[in-house]
Amino acid sequence: MNITIVGTGYVGLVSGTCLADLGHSVHCVDINEEKVQMMKKGEVPIYEPQLEEVFLRNIKGNRLFFTTDLAEAVKKSNVIFLALPTPPGGDGSADLSYVLEVAGQIASLITQYTVIVNKSTVPVGTAKKVGELIKLKTSVPFDVVSNPEFLREGYAVEDFMRPERVIVGASSKKAFEIMEKIYLPLTNAGVNLIKMDEKSSELTKYAANSFLATKITFMNEIANYCEKVGADVDKVRMGMGADDRIGHRFLFPGIGYGGSCFPKDVKALIKSGNEIGYDFKILESVEQINEKQKTILVPDIEKHLGTLKNKCIAVWGLAFKENTDDIREASSLEIINKLLEKGASIKAYDPIAIENVQRLLGDRISYAKDMYECVEDVDALVIATEWGEFRNPHFEWLEKRMKNKAIFDGRNLYNLEELEAHGFYYKSIGRKI
Ligand code: UGA
Repeated sequence: MNITIVGTGYVGLVSGTCLADLGHSVHCVDINEEKVQMMKKGEVPIYEPQLEEVFLRNIKGNRLFFTTDLAEAVKKSNVIFLALPTPPGGDGSADLSYVLEVAGQIASLITQYTVIVNKSTVPVGTAKKVGELIKLKTSVPFDVVSNPEFLREGYAVEDFMRPERVIVGASSKKAFEIMEKIYLPLTNAGVNLIKMDEKSSELTKYAANSFLATKITFMNEIANYCEKVGADVDKVRMGMGADDRIGHRFLFPGIGYGGSCFPKDVKALIKSGNEIGYDFKILESVEQINEKQKTILVPDIEKHLGTLKNKCIAVWGLAFKENTDDIREASSLEIINKLLEKGASIKAYDPIAIENVQRLLGDRISYAKDMYECVEDVDALVIATEWGEFRNPHFEWLEKRMKNKAIFDGRNLYNLEELEAHGFYYKSIGRKI
């Protein structure tokens, strides 16, 4: 099939590349000329494991194309995916201006029956809104479909190619048939395509992300309580997760969730509830607890060191989670800011996110080239991201380099006994000191 994707941000580029890999001809449109030129030359503008390989394979296979010309791309197919940003507006609700603007342009360009597919995370009722807008501008038949993405940064290619489900929200048989045809290579391999109406589909995305954010937050509260009563959250987590109804995933306590999705979607769902007079009390608590959780280690560090004035703290991990250079809403930034406020100096290391932090914090902190250089002469080490390379360090090397053997681990990476054997003061989340 011929497919057009408008927007080559994270979702658009991964979806476009993977749809090409499923055998479709995909025409990606972006207004950013420089980015389009870059992609045409075979350069991937974002960091995402596996993406480059699939991207190059499909450019070479003549299935993946890039242009800045929306009219040209619209002419090429009768399925147009919108993968446009929906950033939180000042009040927390999703800003639909990009989606509506492009929908309006598409309306004046289509000349045959077209399915407009919304991939962006949009509030309930957006498909209807987009449909009404297009109807005002054209008499050409069309359908608007909701097809939310469930890609995790760092695992996006895998999540697209081997999803646990594909959600399609539509209200016309013809639109469902087209969407089924697009995803046929996946459904043939046993993937469940769940059909529903547009509103339910739009809400599924918010509900799924908000539920996962709640699940993590619940465990963070249990972890905090474990510390008060002397229980071990790792044991509790394993005991709980063994119940199939709960499951082991997303039960890892830590210094809160971050990224561009959970915080934004929780906020947007609360806001859209408020707009119709519905109070999402549980999500309001999730938001508040998560904010507090991000810096929960700071008082512990301060207590252990007596004061933070003139202390040098190493921070391992700046990205909001492993396998990404994304620092949006990262707990590391909140911790760093709090430590700076209290007079400490910071030496930070991340395998790939340093440049992004440098752009934000400049020389307010210093940056290390590797994880061992980072701990040279420091008074404490904070672990803020669960990168693989932090999981099994040479503790002897750390012992030699650190001025003071104290580790504050926001991601529970180490075994308590091992750290004790090496003589470290080791504070993690929800476990004994
Ligand atoms: C999330 C969802 O997992 C995807 O399904 C969804 O498509 C995506 O948002 C989106 O809406 O686009 P992502 O934000 O990439 O994906 O990251 P996750 O792997 O879900 O992690 C989010 C945050 O939760 C990270 O800060 C992570 O460290 C934290 N987390 C995750 C925990 O603290 N504990 C856990 O057990 C799991």
